[in-house]
Amino acid sequence: MGGIFAALSLRREDVAPLVVEGLKRLRFRGNDCAGIAVVGDDGLRILKERGDVEDVDRALGLSKLRGWVALGHTRFSTHGRPYSDNAHPHIDCRGEVAVAGDGAIANYEELRDELAMEGHRIVSRSDFEVVAHLIEDGLAKGETFLKAFAAAVERLRGFYVVAALHRSGTIAVYTSKLPVYLGIGDGLYTVASTHTALYGAAREYVEVLGGEIAVVSSSGIAILRPPNLLRVERGARRLELDPRLVDKGGYPHHMLREIYEVPYALLRTIATVQARFLEFAARLLNGARNIFIVADGTSLHAGFVASYYFTELAGVSPIVVSAAEFPLYYIEGVGPGTVVVAISQSGETGDVISSVYEAKLRGATILGITNYVGSKLAMFSNLYLPIGAGPELAVPATKTFTSTLALLYLLALNAGRLAGKLTPDEVRELSGRIERLSDELIRELPRIDREAREAARLLAECRSGYVISRGINYPIALEGALKLKEAAYMHAEGMEAGEFRHGPVVLVERGFFTVFILPVERRAAEATYPLIRDAHSKGATVVVIGPSEELAAHDLPGHKIGVPTADRHLAPIASSIPLQLLAYHLGVLRGLPIDGPRYLTKAVRQ
Ligand code: F6R
Repeated sequence: MGGIFAALSLRREDVAPLVVEGLKRLRFRGNDCAGIAVVGDDGLRILKERGDVEDVDRALGLSKLRGWVALGHTRFSTHGRPYSDNAHPHIDCRGEVAVAGDGAIANYEELRDELAMEGHRIVSRSDFEVVAHLIEDGLAKGETFLKAFAAAVERLRGFYVVAALHRSGTIAVYTSKLPVYLGIGDGLYTVASTHTALYGAAREYVEVLGGEIAVVSSSGIAILRPPNLLRVERGARRLELDPRLVDKGGYPHHMLREIYEVPYALLRTIATVQARFLEFAARLLNGARNIFIVADGTSLHAGFVASYYFTELAGVSPIVVSAAEFPLYYIEGVGPGTVVVAISQSGETGDVISSVYEAKLRGATILGITNYVGSKLAMFSNLYLPIGAGPELAVPATKTFTSTLALLYLLALNAGRLAGKLTPDEVRELSGRIERLSDELIRELPRIDREAREAARLLAECRSGYVISRGINYPIALEGALKLKEAAYMHAEGMEAGEFRHGPVVLVERGFFTVFILPVERRAAEATYPLIRDAHSKGATVVVIGPSEELAAHDLPGHKIGVPTADRHLAPIASSIPLQLLAYHLGVLRGLPIDGPRYLTKAVRQ
């Protein structure tokens, strides 16, 4: 993943300094490597290195490169660790075309093998390098740059944006789904991953939509639709931005931006995890003598949901345990044949790393699940699967949680297939449902956000409360309560609905809130409706989260937040989002430092 920024000066002025500034505004999309390709009097040149764009600029002088066309990239590593060869832009064997990308190419491993067999010199582990070689093949056959680019993207599967700069000075960009932005300024064209990055460089902009190719050259800009490359006419919009929001992609807080990224992060996760490694990981699970899932905080909650996935889909029963407890109370059960599934967004959490270390000493196999491929966890694991959600800058974890669920679900489906419980067709069908849920979430998020904001106003009147659910949504009640504490400093307790009447009910009165997440399981949901009515009749502030259809079919009291109806196993993803938004808006109402709550830090790796 990463941020792309490119520029072309019609007056033939040097554009590298402008590209470096653009990349700085895209840092929130990744900043573990940075690089620029430039076309000028010296032909096509590339400088790139591991590190934040500012550091790489200082070390290599990115902004001193001479040339009137440039393509820059700031990277978040998902394929290949952060180091210079894996930094973008990548170049083909003949040095004619530079390529930078965002997102992930799902069929990268196959393409890489094929191109290597044909004799291409592949120097990185980055998925986007293959695109440079595919374009090279087209050019070698005598195709124009544009035709070669279009033919190359036709070969790619996944969720991605790819930009290529030809030594002639033409830039081509393709996006599979997310919009990309073409900026128009004084004698200057720019291309950026977000319209906010165009700040200061463009007067107006044109959106390039999923499935379209944009071409930028000294003859102008054009949007084309493959395969026939028919021209798309689309008007430009004025670029009007609040400069205070530019570094957060147009949002007031990183947390809100990251919640809005949840559906896209799900697609990134699916495209990032390569079939070959899922298969290895599934084999490990199926062959294990015993399995522990070890994690802390939000990642532990993801582990609790995963225990339903593993048990129900793959027929293996893990023990889920806090990484802080594992070395003290569970280590005796660890030996050769044990698989420890260690989940850590950052890959740096001390308890997780010590658990992994101790388990390894006893001969266990470590399967790491992490968002940071350059992390300690990735290094200490026998095999790791990248979450691929993109960087998460807000301390309260949001998009990485939902993407971790998606990854663990895919893993369980594959383990189920290997165990003969699911057919390959069933696995394909069930995996495809993540994509459908993502599409629904993209459509529904603004409404969920509005309803969560209203619910936050109600909770603002309360002093404390419960977040209640059952079954596979119970870990989401724990997670929702954690988000309310972290982002809104609101005391909240995650509770199993069945326990509500065994004591906790005594606290329920006016000034107390009860947030119910409707359980997915039918009988459990029916047993929860009376509790909702009971809490309401006792004067508590009641919020009910559940599938919109179910909320409409039952006359329940309280403020309701509808979510898309999802499969039992994907319901926890859908139910998480209103809780994240509720905590966010409550934190805003209370004037809190949402992205960096007191006493907490995030182990963000660069
Ligand atoms: C929750 C949160 C923490 C982390 C926990 C584990 O929003 O930020 O509870 O989830 O510290 O962090 P990782 O997943 O990086 O090991």
